[in-house]
Amino acid sequence: MKYIEPYMLEKMNEYLKPIDTNWQPADFLPDSSKDSFFDELKEFQENAKGLSYDLVAVLIGDTITEEALPTYESWLTMVEGVSKDEDGGWMKWLRHWTAEENRHGDLLNKYLYLSGRVDMRQMEISTQYLIADGFDIGTDRDPYRNFIYTSFQELATNISHRRVASLAKKDGDTLLSKMCGVIASDEARHAKAYKDFISQIIKVDPNEVLFAFEDMMRKKIVMPAHFMREAGTAIGHTFAHFSDAAQRLGVYTAIDYVDILKQLINDWNIESLRELNETGEKARDYLMRLPERLLRIAERIKDPRLDYKFSWIHAM
Ligand SMILES: [Fe+2]
Ligand SMILES: [Fe+2]
Repeated sequence: MKYIEPYMLEKMNEYLKPIDTNWQPADFLPDSSKDSFFDELKEFQENAKGLSYDLVAVLIGDTITEEALPTYESWLTMVEGVSKDEDGGWMKWLRHWTAEENRHGDLLNKYLYLSGRVDMRQMEISTQYLIADGFDIGTDRDPYRNFIYTSFQELATNISHRRVASLAKKDGDTLLSKMCGVIASDEARHAKAYKDFISQIIKVDPNEVLFAFEDMMRKKIVMPAHFMREAGTAIGHTFAHFSDAAQRLGVYTAIDYVDILKQLINDWNIESLRELNETGEKARDYLMRLPERLLRIAERIKDPRLDYKFSWIHAM
């Protein structure tokens, strides 16, 4: 980690955007200080009416996931082996990354509030629960597992926001489509960064990276919002329904999981890693065989039927 920190500092301006010129939620939302606000809001809500039930559910789940950012930030500060020096690569990266990510929840939350489709109180209860419940993603405080996890997650959020963008467009809400599009491109940039950090670490410590990657995949990558619930339900109850809706819509599916794994294997040139120790060799071989195995399972998964009413969504 001491090796990678100066590199993170050096690359920060490449992977994160300057704040003064970066997009902000206000760029996309009706301006409530203007006289035209109410007309704009009317049109805004008209467009939101066309969104399918599942799409609204997925959008709310995505928003709650983004809003649990305090969990992700505090988890990343607890990683072992990093300097807690505020001017060091780790803390600087972490604060600037968090600051960019914070816009995602802000924008989506305001969209949903204005859309007129959502029972905001119920959604807010879920958000408070998710932050209070935290998460258990099996990475412990190990830095390699954390970088692998974030690489995977940023790719997953890129896919899901991108798909929501195109479904929103199909349902006639081009503004929402634009919003999810800009969020998706942030996620893509972040994914590039975390993948690059792992690539750098592979150069000096391939065996341990492979071992960490194998271990993560054996345990399966758990989504950060896996504890999601609604008022009066058990921890994790709502997450299952949220991911069913995402699978049904094709926003994020078991096939996507395999595609992300393939992409990571490819980007990190896992296949061509040589001169490894026995653990490293075994991990490499396990990883190379994994996508095909998972694909066979993924192809057998049937789309879950629509049978759940979220407390978050007003009946229309
Ligand atoms: Fe995000
Ligand atoms: Fe992200």
